[in-house]
Amino acid sequence: MNIVLIGFMGCGKTTIGRELSRTTKMLRKDTDEMIVEDAGMPITEIFQQEGEEGFRKREAELLERLVRGKQDGIIYSTGGGIVIPEINRELLKQMGKVVFLRIKPETVIERLGHDTTRPLLQGPDRMKKIRLLMARRRSAYEETADLIIDVDGHTPQDVAETILANLG
Ligand code: S3P
Repeated sequence: MNIVLIGFMGCGKTTIGRELSRTTKMLRKDTDEMIVEDAGMPITEIFQQEGEEGFRKREAELLERLVRGKQDGIIYSTGGGIVIPEINRELLKQMGKVVFLRIKPETVIERLGHDTTRPLLQGPDRMKKIRLLMARRRSAYEETADLIIDVDGHTPQDVAETILANLG
């Protein structure tokens, strides 16, 4: 079995992926990290040079590669916008059990209020951007998920335990 973590920026896909990997000894892969490694530049620079469109293309190509060379026993942490293209949603479902880590905009702003590494949150009115992006993406996350877990007020350890209990 594989576990695929999806959800908005700041929901804990990376941290919870690490926690799951620690407790289950499953291998963890992170799509953002793989893209950065392939590109040889950080995400902010990919966005500067290739725009969001270029980044999305890299995400879609990576997912296709991962599905083609599908392995078992892997925890995938993904980027928050990976669910936008319909084809990606299909590919994510093929990769394993998809867990949507649901977070409130208020918790995102608490965690990422001063973040400089997410190009889509830079500039004024961060809360408005978060609400808008979240509203646009909500149905994409929901329709891709096998399991939905609310993360607000819970530690990564709590969330990891809940995921494992629910996936049996
Ligand atoms: C993005 C989320 C980021 C990263 C990129 C775009 C998004 O990943 O892929 O900045 O569109 O929501 P995290 O969800 O890990 O922050």
